[in-house]
Amino acid sequence: MIFSAYIFADGVEIAPGVIATFSRMIREGLIVGVPTETVYGLGADADLDVAVGRIFAAKQRPADHPLIVHVAAFDGGISGAAHYASRVPAFAQQLMSAFWPGPLTLILPRKPGVATVAAGGQNSIGLRCPSHPVAQALLKNLRSPEGGQLVVWGIAAPSANKFGRVSPTTAAHVMDEFGDSLAVLDGGPCDMGIESTIIDCTRGVPVQLRPGSISRQQVQEACGLKVLTDAEFVEQADAQIIQAQGSIAPRASGTLASHYAPNAKLRLMDLKSLQSALDMLEEAKLNGRRVAQKSSAVSAVEKDTSPKIVHIAVYARNRLRIKSDEVIFRAMPQSAAQVAHELFAVLREFDAAGVKLIWAETPPDTVEWEGVRDRLGRASA
Ligand code: TXA
Ligand code: MG
Repeated sequence: MIFSAYIFADGVEIAPGVIATFSRMIREGLIVGVPTETVYGLGADADLDVAVGRIFAAKQRPADHPLIVHVAAFDGGISGAAHYASRVPAFAQQLMSAFWPGPLTLILPRKPGVATVAAGGQNSIGLRCPSHPVAQALLKNLRSPEGGQLVVWGIAAPSANKFGRVSPTTAAHVMDEFGDSLAVLDGGPCDMGIESTIIDCTRGVPVQLRPGSISRQQVQEACGLKVLTDAEFVEQADAQIIQAQGSIAPRASGTLASHYAPNAKLRLMDLKSLQSALDMLEEAKLNGRRVAQKSSAVSAVEKDTSPKIVHIAVYARNRLRIKSDEVIFRAMPQSAAQVAHELFAVLREFDAAGVKLIWAETPPDTVEWEGVRDRLGRASA
C-alpha cells in the first residue's frame, strides 16, 4: 500500500505521522519501500539480521550480494559512517564532505559485528547518505528513540526491484514489483533516476565500481586522486598490492554484465544503423504484403482492419524516418541528467505496452553520459 509522505494543505510539508509509522515498522523488523533521490529502495534496519534477510528473500537476491546501508545526515553522515566503518581514509572523508548527502556510495572497511547480513559476507560495507528529504526525515527519526526504543543507525536498502530487473523510480513501480502488501513511503518521482555512483575506498586509491550521476571527473576533483575503474585497477595495481588485498573484486550486482533488464530485448545502435534497421523493416513489410496479396488475391484497396500491434519501440535523441505504424518513437532528451531521470520509467512503459524490441540510440561517449551508457549497456546484455 502507498502512503504519501507529504501533507499538501497550505504548502508542502513532510507528514510527521507517516514518518513515525514507517519508523515504527522498521524498528519492528518489517521491510518497507522508501524513496531516495536516485531510485526507490526496499529498506529494513541494517543491524537487524532477520529483517535484512527478508529483503534478500523478497528481492530473490543471492545472499552474497551486499546491500547499501543508508545513514542520517546529522553532521554530514559522519557519525553514521563511524558506526559501520572501522576506518575512513582521508580521501573518503573528502568525498563525504563534498557529496553527502547525495548520490554517492562509499565502500569502506566494516566494523566486525555490524550489518553482518547486509554486508553479504564482505568485510567491507557500502554506505550512503541520501539527500531525499523524506529519506532523511525517516533516518533522523530512527536515530532519536522515543520511549526508550533502540536507535536504528542505518537502513539497508537495495533498489526495490526483483533481482536483475529495472529499478523503480516511483512508488507505483515499487508496488508493481512487490504487490499491495508492502508499505511504500511515497516521496514522489526520484530526481536522479539512476542508482548512486559507487566508489570503493578500501584499496588505497578510489576505484569506481558503478558509474552514476556523480561523474568520475567530479570525484577526482573532490579528492585530488585519479579514479580508476575496477578493470584499470586490476591492470595497474602491482602484483604485491593485489596479493596484500586478497581477492580484489568485491561482488557488485550492478556490475554484472546483465542487469536492469526490461522484458523486451534492448539493442543499442548508432543513429545510422538505427535508420537502416528501420528502412529494412519497412522494406521487409512491403515485400511481405506483396507476397500475401499475390497468394490470397486480397484486393489492393482492401483496408487492413487488424488491431495495431506495436512490436518495436525506438528511443533516440534524433528524429528518424519511421513509416511503419507498428513502431513507436519516443524522443530521448538531450541531456544525460534528463535521460537518467526518465530512463527506467520509459523502459517500464515499453514493457507495459507489450513492446518486444527496443532500439535505442547509443548515448555519446563522454563522462557525463557514463551512468546512462552503463545502464543501457547492461539492459541490452
Ligand atoms: O542509489 C542507490 O545506490 C540505490 C538506492 C536505493 O540507494 N541502491 C542500490 O542498491 O542501487 P543495489 O542493492 O541495487 O545496488 C547496490 C550495489 C550492488 O551492486 C552491491 O553489490 C554494491 O552496491 N555493494 C554494496 N555493498 C558492497 C560492498 N561491501 N562491496 C562491494 N560492493 C557493494
Ligand atoms: Mg539494484
